[in-house]
Amino acid sequence: NWKMENILDEEIKVIKETVGPDEHVICALSGGVDSTVAATLVHKAIGERLHCVFVDNGLLRYKERERVMETFERDLHLPVTCVDAVDQFLSKLKGVTDPEVKRKIIGKEFISIFDSFGHELELKIGKKPSYLVQGTLYPDVIESCPPPGSGRTHSHTIKSHHNVGGLPKDMKLKLIEPLKLLFKDEVRQLGRILNVPDAFLKRHPFPGPGLAVRVLGDVTEGNALEVLRQVDEIFIQSIKDAGLYDSIWQAFAVFLPIKSVGVQGDQRTHSHVVALRAVTSQDGMTADWYNFEHQFLDNVARKICNSVRGVNRVVQDITSKPPSTIEWE
Ligand code: XMP
Repeated sequence: NWKMENILDEEIKVIKETVGPDEHVICALSGGVDSTVAATLVHKAIGERLHCVFVDNGLLRYKERERVMETFERDLHLPVTCVDAVDQFLSKLKGVTDPEVKRKIIGKEFISIFDSFGHELELKIGKKPSYLVQGTLYPDVIESCPPPGSGRTHSHTIKSHHNVGGLPKDMKLKLIEPLKLLFKDEVRQLGRILNVPDAFLKRHPFPGPGLAVRVLGDVTEGNALEVLRQVDEIFIQSIKDAGLYDSIWQAFAVFLPIKSVGVQGDQRTHSHVVALRAVTSQDGMTADWYNFEHQFLDNVARKICNSVRGVNRVVQDITSKPPSTIEWE
């Protein structure tokens, strides 16, 4: 741990040197490991000149907004402003099916929200914020913009992470990315030193663009987001009940924009197919699909079809990374 403690001291020093004594900083909290650790670290360096914002973009998981806001206040004592931007995001995503375009739109909306949050802050504290904290990790940097000499050119970019690529060039806020050189397990170690509760540190990663990359195609079509939230909650809760949550890097459900024929209670149905994905990994760069017991999968699939309206088929993703990525978009 000596190494992580040095890194912590070094990061705090750099932030103190970078941010002037009367400058203010905004941090977007997602409730995930990275942004929570990044915010706690920056808070340690500059105290109340850090202003955190949690954006409800309509792409969050089941009851996530309530859960995250409650834990921030109760466990982290970090003052957080919650912005309801559901309509703003979903209206921009209407009709959009291309994964990269979706990611770009989401990145742009986030920035416009940070800009208005900064504006409101200026009215309140009489000073424009100068910096934006992002919980970008090393793997995000490598996959979005391969380092020079790595032999990969920009056209080989795997996907634009909303917190790396896709940021508008005219963005007025400068970036602070204190975790940019770290891997996920190192961020968790750092979080432990900073006394971030395990409830945050052990959470599975959740992508910045949220459920938008887990509803394939148009996210606003029908009640896809609502169906996905219910399916995902059943899957995750079953994993927790079985005591498997901490052995899995990431688990989630994916909503597929196709229907298949089924039979439920003597009735022919034509309903949606959902996919379950669970992987083990060290750093998210490569991953193996997780092999659940037969009985576990059987119970989950039954529970989903019995309790989620509009779903009559459940499939499991059994590909590793590579050749697949962890997320489907
Ligand atoms: P992929 O799908 O590229 O995912 O194999 C690797 C890890 O990164 C997460 N991920 C993201 N995280 N912003 C994030 O903060 C993003 O845009 C993003 N896209 C993917 C993914 O959930 C997995 O843990």
